[in-house]
Amino acid sequence: MKPRLVRANLGKIAFSFIFFAMFSARSEDGPREPGTERELPQDRMALARLQSPPLGLPVVPVPENNPVTIEKIGLGRKLFFDRRLSLNGTMSCGMCHIPEQGFTNNELSIPIGVNGQSLNRNAPTILNAAYALQLFLDGREVSLERQAVLPLLAHNEMANPSAEWLVAKLAGLPDYQGLFEVAFGGGPSMERIGKAIASWERTLLAADSPFDRWRYGGEVHALTPKQKRGFDLFLGKGRCDECHSVGAKYALLTDQTFHDTGIGYLRDVIESQKNSPVLVEIAPHVFVSVPREVVGQVGQSRPTDLGRFEVTREPKDKWRFKTPTLRNVAVTAPYMHDGSLRTLEAVVRFYNRGGVSHPGLDPLIGPLGFNDSEIASIVAFLRSLTANNLAVLEADARTVVMRH
Ligand code: HEC
Ligand code: HEC
Repeated sequence: MKPRLVRANLGKIAFSFIFFAMFSARSEDGPREPGTERELPQDRMALARLQSPPLGLPVVPVPENNPVTIEKIGLGRKLFFDRRLSLNGTMSCGMCHIPEQGFTNNELSIPIGVNGQSLNRNAPTILNAAYALQLFLDGREVSLERQAVLPLLAHNEMANPSAEWLVAKLAGLPDYQGLFEVAFGGGPSMERIGKAIASWERTLLAADSPFDRWRYGGEVHALTPKQKRGFDLFLGKGRCDECHSVGAKYALLTDQTFHDTGIGYLRDVIESQKNSPVLVEIAPHVFVSVPREVVGQVGQSRPTDLGRFEVTREPKDKWRFKTPTLRNVAVTAPYMHDGSLRTLEAVVRFYNRGGVSHPGLDPLIGPLGFNDSEIASIVAFLRSLTANNLAVLEADARTVVMRH
């Protein structure tokens, strides 16, 4: 029996053993010596991508105390997809940030964590998270290094009882022997786990979209006339770029700050005051209508989500959420912090109505007066923001998904 299978037998629950054995049997490369992850060509490609980002993206900011190396990239990817990093071995980061679903979860408006509990918010994509100055939809974290540690310990996400517990578990896993040492010159620690994951995440740069080729690459025919018209409306009547920024040399499609579009007020105040039944998502796209009082009783009702206010406690920050990038937005449905809008058309129609009028509404949001054809043009433009290298990034991720 292959050494990897022997290891897999030890202490693994039946399901994950079968899963593991299935993929082990398929992999051509047989048993690996510890440390060989760092030899993957994907790691070299990832580093090259970081050093020279795809068209439309600026230089990637990298913290001085965590320079990106090939070894950290390989280790970070492995950690990201490793279900053993959760309390009961069922959940990895990659199960909410799914490579084939735009590194988010297209199925659920609100993902479900290790113990079946729903989280409070829609999972954002981690594509181009390298540029985010503030992380989470309320900006409560500012570095990918520190962000990565939080889901590992959050009771409703990966639920590890403590940092020490997780570090000891990793130190005991045979396939991690030597990996931290090679990447960091010492054994695993929470800080190093964060640094490795952040290093791999920084390489998930997705651009060179039709829009980028048109705007930054001089390819006049990269956009259709409809998409160009949509972009004109995006800049003009829609004033979308006031928040979803487009620069002269690159575009992040976010101003990296927080705004109240009315969607939070709609959910927390207007919807919750209605006596109407609540639609509860019991499985992807399967909704049942439940009376509001019952929802409260079974504990499925979500607490109000005041966004940035939860961090600053400043009344002006109520219902302000981070402006998401619109890059790759066609593949990252559902939309908004609560995942309440399922299509791009629904989002554009939401803006067209002027969001939801209430005292905190951002002054830039108001009725836009788009007709149906203009709405369709904006949606077409949003679809031109899909990177041409998504398959490369999915393949990069799968190099390790297939091995677990
Ligand atoms: C159970 C699902 C789930 C798991 C598991 C999970 N995440 Fe997330 N992730 C989310 C949700 C939901 C948010 C948004 C939370 C918020 O804003 O409060 C998020 C936010 C993020 C962000 C911030 C993105 C941004 O633009 O602000 C990053 C980066 C991230 N996760 C990486 C990770 C890493 C690394 C792991 C594993 C250590 C992980 N996630 C595990 C659901 C998950
Ligand atoms: C005042 C700033 C502002 C303006 C103007 C604005 N947006 Fe947004 N946009 C946001 C914020 C903030 C969110 C996130 C809201 C949330 O999470 O609840 C968002 C979310 C979105 C989303 C969903 C993205 C996702 O991943 O969930 C799309 C699509 C979008 N905006 C497109 C547009 C378009 C098109 C326009 C112009 C018609 C526009 N926005 C104008 C701030 C703005």
